[in-house]
Amino acid sequence: MMKRQLSHGIWRHMLMKAENKPLSSQPSLHWHSRIKDYGTRLTSTHSEHNIGHMNIQQTYLEICSPSWPQFLKLKYIWLRDHCRCNTCYNHTTNQRNCDLLDIPLNIQPQKSAIEGDKLTIAWPDGHQSEYLLDWLWKNSYNGLQNSDTYHPKLWNRQSVELKNIAQVDMSQYMNTDAGVYDVVKSIVDFGVGIVKNVPATKEATDKVVQQIAHVQHTMFGGMWEFSDHLDHYDTAYTRQALGAHTDNTYFTEAAGLQVFHCLHHDGEGGETLLVDGFRAAYDLKQTHPKSFQRLSTLPIEAEYLEAGKHYINVDSMLKLHPLTKKLQQIRFNLNDRAPMRILAAEQISQLYEDIQSFSAKVKDPEGEWWFKLHPGMVLFIDNWRVLHGRASYTGHRKMTGCYISRSDYISKAKVLEII
Ligand SMILES: [Fe+2]
Ligand SMILES: [Zn+2]
Repeated sequence: MMKRQLSHGIWRHMLMKAENKPLSSQPSLHWHSRIKDYGTRLTSTHSEHNIGHMNIQQTYLEICSPSWPQFLKLKYIWLRDHCRCNTCYNHTTNQRNCDLLDIPLNIQPQKSAIEGDKLTIAWPDGHQSEYLLDWLWKNSYNGLQNSDTYHPKLWNRQSVELKNIAQVDMSQYMNTDAGVYDVVKSIVDFGVGIVKNVPATKEATDKVVQQIAHVQHTMFGGMWEFSDHLDHYDTAYTRQALGAHTDNTYFTEAAGLQVFHCLHHDGEGGETLLVDGFRAAYDLKQTHPKSFQRLSTLPIEAEYLEAGKHYINVDSMLKLHPLTKKLQQIRFNLNDRAPMRILAAEQISQLYEDIQSFSAKVKDPEGEWWFKLHPGMVLFIDNWRVLHGRASYTGHRKMTGCYISRSDYISKAKVLEII
C-alpha cells in the first residue's frame, strides 16, 4: 500500500526542496507571481483551510496534498477529458458521455481553485468541472506509479505448504462472503486456493465455481470430465506424466483460473505438480536478466490442432503488464509451440538458449510442489501464474473441472477489493 500519511516535517521538506529548484525547471510554489510572469488569464484561489497546494502552469496544473508522496502533474486536456459532471459522464452507465474531438488540445482553464478536498475548474466556454483530490490521485499516472497494491507471495517447495493456502470448508464458502474472499485472496497471493468437503460430483464442483464466476466454455466444453479416454487430442486425456505448463497458450486470452476436482482414483500415482511461474521468472531475471528481457518481448507462437479446429496465438512467454510493467502472465507450454518462425537463423540460437534457461528454472526440483488431490478437494489455480502438471498413474482416474476467464476472475477480485 502507498504510504498515505507523511509527517509534517517531511511534507515541509518536500515543499522546500521543490522551491529550491531553478524556476526554469521547477514551477515555483508562489504561483500567484508565476501567473503574472506568464501574463495569462489564469487565476487561482487558496485559503489557509485548504488541504492542497497548487501551481498553475501554461499547459498543466501541479497539485499537492499532504497525504500524497509527491506532486501530481495534470495536463489541462486530461482534466477536461476527465470531467465527471453529469453532462460529461453518465453516472448510470459509468461511461464517458462527451466527444473527445470537441476538446481543443491547447485548452486552458479560465479559473482553477482547490476548495477543501476538491479541485474546481472553470473552462473558457463556461463549463464547470469539479474533481475530488483523492479521485485525481487514484486515477492519475503518478498515483499508479506509487500504488503498489499487488504483491504476489512467491513460493517454492520449501516455503509453500497447504497451511499457507486457503482451504475453506464448502459450507463456509457457499454461505459467507468471507469464505469466498479467503479463497480468492489466496489465489491472488499464491496463485492457488482450495475449497474442501465438496461432494465428488461435477454438479457440486460447478456450484463451487459459480461462487467466483461462470464457467468459461472452450472446445473442451464447460464443466469437463476427463479420464484416460482420448476425448481430445491432448496428452491430458492419457495416463502419461505431464510436465509443468500453463494451459491455452494458443488462445488470445488464456483461461484465468483452472479448476480441478479429482472425483475418483483407484490406482497409484497421479500426484499433482504445481510450480510458481512468477518465482521461476524472477529467478531468471536475477541470473539471466537479458534472457528475461528477451522472453518478455519476443513473440512465440503456440497452436492447437484438432479436426475442424486450429487455434493459434502469438505472444511473449513472459508477459508484462502494459501499465505497471510488472510480470503479469507466464505462457509456458513447450509442447504447444507452433513452428518457430519469429527470428532469422542467426538469432534463433539465442532464443533457444533463453527458453532453456527459463525451462531450467521451471523444472528446478526446489520449486516443485507435489501433492495428491483427493475427492472433495476443489483446487483453483491461476493459469496466468502457476504451472501445473502431474505424475503418471495407474488405475481408473476421473477428474472434473473447468476454466474461468481471466476477465471474470479479475472482476471478482476487484469487486472483493483484493486488487
Ligand atoms: Fe494443462
Ligand atoms: Zn463536465
